[in-house]
Amino acid sequence: MRIEDLTLDEKLTLLCGRDNWTTETCGGKVPEVRVSDGPHGLRCVVSVENGREITADATAMPSLSVVANGWNKRAAYEQGGTIADDCVDHNVDVLLAPGVNIKKTPLCGRNFEYFSEDPYLAGTLAGQYIEGVQSRGVGACLKHFCANNVESDRSWQSSEVDERTLNEIYLKPFEIALGAKPWTVMCAYNPINGVYASENKKLLTHVLRDKFGFDGLVMSDWWAVHNGYKAVRAGLNLRMPHDDENFAVLKEAYEKGYLTDEQINESVSRVLALAEKADRSEKSGKTSKEQRHLNAVKIAEEGIVLLKNEGGILPAAGKKIAVSGVFAGAPAIGGGGSSTVQTAYKIPHLADAISSITGEKVERSMGVCENVFVTAKLAYSQAYNADLCVVVVGDGTAKVSEGCDRDTLKLRPEQENFIIELSKYNKNIVVVIESGSAVDVSAFEPYAKAIIFAGFAGEGVNEALARIITGRVCPSGKLAETFPYALEDTYMGNYTGDGLTVDYGEGVFVGYRYYERYGIAVRYPFGFGLSYAKFEYSDLKIEKTGDTDFVVFYTVKNVSKVDGKEVSQVYVRDIIAMVARPVKELKGYSKDLIKAGEEKRVSVKLDFSSFAYYSVSLDKWLVENGDFEILVGSSSRDVKLSGKVRIELPDDEQPSQI
Ligand code: BGC
Repeated sequence: MRIEDLTLDEKLTLLCGRDNWTTETCGGKVPEVRVSDGPHGLRCVVSVENGREITADATAMPSLSVVANGWNKRAAYEQGGTIADDCVDHNVDVLLAPGVNIKKTPLCGRNFEYFSEDPYLAGTLAGQYIEGVQSRGVGACLKHFCANNVESDRSWQSSEVDERTLNEIYLKPFEIALGAKPWTVMCAYNPINGVYASENKKLLTHVLRDKFGFDGLVMSDWWAVHNGYKAVRAGLNLRMPHDDENFAVLKEAYEKGYLTDEQINESVSRVLALAEKADRSEKSGKTSKEQRHLNAVKIAEEGIVLLKNEGGILPAAGKKIAVSGVFAGAPAIGGGGSSTVQTAYKIPHLADAISSITGEKVERSMGVCENVFVTAKLAYSQAYNADLCVVVVGDGTAKVSEGCDRDTLKLRPEQENFIIELSKYNKNIVVVIESGSAVDVSAFEPYAKAIIFAGFAGEGVNEALARIITGRVCPSGKLAETFPYALEDTYMGNYTGDGLTVDYGEGVFVGYRYYERYGIAVRYPFGFGLSYAKFEYSDLKIEKTGDTDFVVFYTVKNVSKVDGKEVSQVYVRDIIAMVARPVKELKGYSKDLIKAGEEKRVSVKLDFSSFAYYSVSLDKWLVENGDFEILVGSSSRDVKLSGKVRIELPDDEQPSQI
């Protein structure tokens, strides 16, 4: 379809969706594009009953926060590919995922849908996810562009963020993930520095198009458009979902001269290009339904994090196990909102999943649900008669959901108390936490011998947990977000905006960058996670391959008797700079399977972006000459090896120097 063959009215209708999930076809002239959520599995609406959307069954994959805790690029790719296979089955052209917004506060109700507090980790994993989705001929949608970091009053509160922070922290994951060429980008709800994301020309056109070179389609978040014609002028191509009034708004704006033919054509051509791409694309699924479930289990295994393991109580091989907690039977597989997936898979009770591996009977009790004791007495007696008791607690969708933020990092007092009570009957308590973001474990940590953070790990969670608890799988997840001791230790505290604005005064010091700068102790650092294996790092060598290019080599040896995967992390520190820079920043990582007693030579590449900061004075990324420290660690706070490199760019390209 050529743009010249469309009338003005047809063009304007193309700029609004036809309904909630499809684009306009102009009476069949233009191929329809069907879009569907979301990041953790397909949520394809098949009918609406009594105002409630009924969605097709699909594989409920782990949430993106769990994928991020996996630090495994291949797993992120498979997550995208597996969900896209469900899209192929339901003829969905564009999957509305992934989201790469930064976890600025652990309270954000949507953190489970996002990857990390670190832009590099978020951007690189999102890029893999996008490649996975698009490898099946289905388009991805990178969202929510940008600076949507709390859910409270998300359509109104302006994110007040300075230029350097915007570039280094909040735009960066988008910039990196755009390298994978997603078909579409979705704008956020919120204003940024006073202008709605949907009407923000600087972001939608100057940054996204001109600077980042994005050539796909920009759609709105659902109902995020406040003024239809201002959005088109700013560079928004498709308003979603259909809104009866939008056509008239656009037409009137055109007649009054507020919208030009050129502006309309620009957006129409993007819609046409997407429609043609979707139409031409050969969709091909690569996995069977069974394989999709197995992928859900595998990716959950990668991202489940062992936080505490006193006396090596886990793995629990050969021990008599009791399992308690309502979540053990009805796990929190995802959070609430648009990412909810309807799975037909009959998730086994954790007790059954364990027993199908060990062949031993595993007692079970409900014990506690979110906020009330149920069969606690039975739980105590089963715990008393077992060697070890696993108790599953966490947050359900009522507490963790799109559209609202949490008000505490703590679990419900009933859950905390239950763990403490249970420990009176059995000292070997293993706590499994299912939640969307960091949890303050202080109340029950002393009473737990082991703590496992499962996050919202999808329909495969219990198989994955059972394999980790019994030692079939060696845990290898590491936290993609810091767990502070308490909410008060975070920059934001209990603040999620004041109704007018959201403060970004911590600047680039978000997540571990914040705690490290101000010397704040944390419960579990960024990048932390235990293993049943033990790794040693040695032989750091850094090879210079260009002015700002290096390859970092080091050896990781598995000095235990257990095969395991280790996530090694490479951080860069600008030793002396003209501006305030974080103590260190993640610039590379590698997850490697290393067999017991074996070693692996790991290599990680660094380039200009590993050393640069965004100079507001020069309006560009800048690497300052001087020495940089290269830190290789098993977490952000456990640096194993360090070395230095010197960067000497031509003097006339450097601004003021020390
Ligand atoms: C969410 C988007 C989602 C859209 C469609 C919005 O509420 O913010 O992430 O894709 O709904 O369901």
